[in-house]
Amino acid sequence: MKLPAKSDLRADTAWVIFQVLELGKSSREALALAQARHSKQDSAWLQEMAMGVFRHLPQLQIWLRALLDQPLKGNKKIIEHLILLGFYQQAYSRVSDHAAVSATVNATDVLGGGRLKGLVNAILRNFQRQQMAGKTSDDAIVQSGLPKWLYKRLHAAYPTQINDIVSAMNEPAPVWLRVNRLRSSVDEYCHLLTSQDISFCLSPDHPDAVILTERVPITSLPGYAEGWFSVQDGAAQLAAPLLQLQANQRVLDCCAAPGGKSAHILETEPALQQLIALDSESSRLTRMTENMTRLQLNADLVCADAADINNWWDGNQFDRILLDAPCSATGVIRRHPDIRWLRKASDIEALQALQYKIFSNLWPTLKPGGVLVYATCSVLPAENSDQVARFLSEHSDASLLKINSQETPEMPGRQILPGEQQMDGFYYARLLKS
Ligand SMILES: C[S@@+](CC[C@H](N)C(=O)[O-])C[C@H]1O[C@@H](n2cnc3c(N)ncnc32)[C@H](O)[C@@H]1O
Repeated sequence: MKLPAKSDLRADTAWVIFQVLELGKSSREALALAQARHSKQDSAWLQEMAMGVFRHLPQLQIWLRALLDQPLKGNKKIIEHLILLGFYQQAYSRVSDHAAVSATVNATDVLGGGRLKGLVNAILRNFQRQQMAGKTSDDAIVQSGLPKWLYKRLHAAYPTQINDIVSAMNEPAPVWLRVNRLRSSVDEYCHLLTSQDISFCLSPDHPDAVILTERVPITSLPGYAEGWFSVQDGAAQLAAPLLQLQANQRVLDCCAAPGGKSAHILETEPALQQLIALDSESSRLTRMTENMTRLQLNADLVCADAADINNWWDGNQFDRILLDAPCSATGVIRRHPDIRWLRKASDIEALQALQYKIFSNLWPTLKPGGVLVYATCSVLPAENSDQVARFLSEHSDASLLKINSQETPEMPGRQILPGEQQMDGFYYARLLKS
């Protein structure tokens, strides 16, 4: 990844959009590189614009096709992304039309498209003149801002809830904190927030949670360095309670990095015999080590492929297993708008195969009488209830330990949809081994 030689806010924003949409890179890394050379305020603008383009891409592309005769190719392709950014500023942001056009046109040079400056200028001025911002598609898929394949899958799975799901996916997500009960308490932490005039609310179903109702830099919150809290969505905070933890248990958190749920497990039951936190990505385990150090918690970290149990398992069965499986992350699109374009329809089958392989290979490592919680941050039944239903039908020693009274072996688990009680989209099922 190489940034444009010269630093320019709009050129760098177009570069981030290009990295995600053309090269399939996650916006996290691209944003970090680009933001490093801008002020705090400009960095926030850059992120807001890039995320806005991802949210409105189908409409922006319709406008591009209407105003650009021939698609740009090769190393000029990035100029198309600059034009999308120009449209976005005019149609959806508070940037004045004049600044949106002139500063965006100037960025053409920085991106090496000097000879296309006239074209960019003409397209952005036509957009303004023809009042394109008011001419939006009435097609539900375009309005959803989602790729066609994902919209169709969601519509098929949730025909009556599709509009609510789409709006929740396009709303900014609230910041949830999980108070570390080994260092503080929700009551004590709420007093601290009140004393600093920071507004928040509580959730009756989340004993350790505080939801911030205003934007505050996380590192400036009281007790950050001391590990009094972690940032963790409410849906993810349901994992530890579902495990029914008790002292002296041996617990495996499989697919554990960067460690949000492992930390909650240790805060919930500090007298476990052992917590093994396993993940196949060493860089994510490095982040996990940093998080655990800040929170002053200890787990045994293992870097391995969870499905390859001969490589990491010592033969002692676990009382509890959390399998937070690698998934499409379609439940957290409101937090990561780029996911919708990074994920392809063809990824789902491969993910399903990986999830099922880990799930079934892990099963022998669970004690009879032990409990396994299967979790994903996906909203697609193919990764969730379908997987668990298949598992139950193929494993006679597995039964459903219901989370909801309506669950059946054919329709197992709790599917949380994005926005439900302010949470991310998430799925949980709990199995007992006989
Ligand atoms: C949903 S994330 C885990 C989030 C984590 N449980 C938390 O609460 O912070 C899924 C994780 O699965 C890991 N992973 C993917 N394939 C794996 C495999 N075959 N074995 C072990 N870990 C794997 C990824 O590196 C990623 O960290």
